[in-house]
Amino acid sequence: MDKKQKILIAITGASGAGYGIQLTSHLLAHGHDIHLIVSDAGKKVMKWETGARPEELQKKGAVLYRVDDIAAPPASGSFKLDAMAICPCTMGTLAAVANSLASNLIHRTADVMLKERRRLILIVRETPIHTGHIKNLLKISEIGGIIMPASPGFYHNPGSVQDVYDFMAAKVMDNLNIKHNLIKPWAGIVK
Ligand SMILES: Cc1cc2nc3c(=O)[nH]c(=O)nc-3n(C[C@H](O)[C@H](O)[C@H](O)COP(=O)(O)O)c2cc1C
Repeated sequence: MDKKQKILIAITGASGAGYGIQLTSHLLAHGHDIHLIVSDAGKKVMKWETGARPEELQKKGAVLYRVDDIAAPPASGSFKLDAMAICPCTMGTLAAVANSLASNLIHRTADVMLKERRRLILIVRETPIHTGHIKNLLKISEIGGIIMPASPGFYHNPGSVQDVYDFMAAKVMDNLNIKHNLIKPWAGIVK
């Protein structure tokens, strides 16, 4: 097995809650130490799009924090996370993180990751996007975050929505150097 990583997943209120659910579930299944924060909008979108609740991921083993619990351990640099992924990430959370507005536990933890020079991945989702969004994406990239748009490929011929969610989970796990069998590495077009 890969080295066990301590990873925080934040699920915000962008469309695509299933991306965050699948990513969290796969990381737990691989034995990683998973910490979870779901924003209030994230809970609503999760319920609407998938019928699921954050507590279901808690039952699978994720440590769940309230988004307003600004005194929770992830708010400090002494809580040594290997990585944080905001999946999916709204334009609102993107703006807060890009501008260091550490007003809830998701924003604060992301700010800590940046100041400690640790891995922070934003799986952003919105379309179309305006210049303000683009400037915030640029800021994140400039201050050390990784932008991974929720922009799934279709070259693995997905047969279900689950396969589409898994494409993004696979991309995040690749970035975290975690081995998986979610999608086959591209081997060229087979005739
Ligand atoms: C069904 C639904 C889908 C949404 N999809 C998106 C989205 O894809 N991207 C986005 O930036 N905001 C989206 N929003 C709006 C955010 O949820 C809203 O701006 C919220 O205040 C963001 O808060 P958060 O970043 O703390 O989760 C959506 C809202 C709803 C109800």
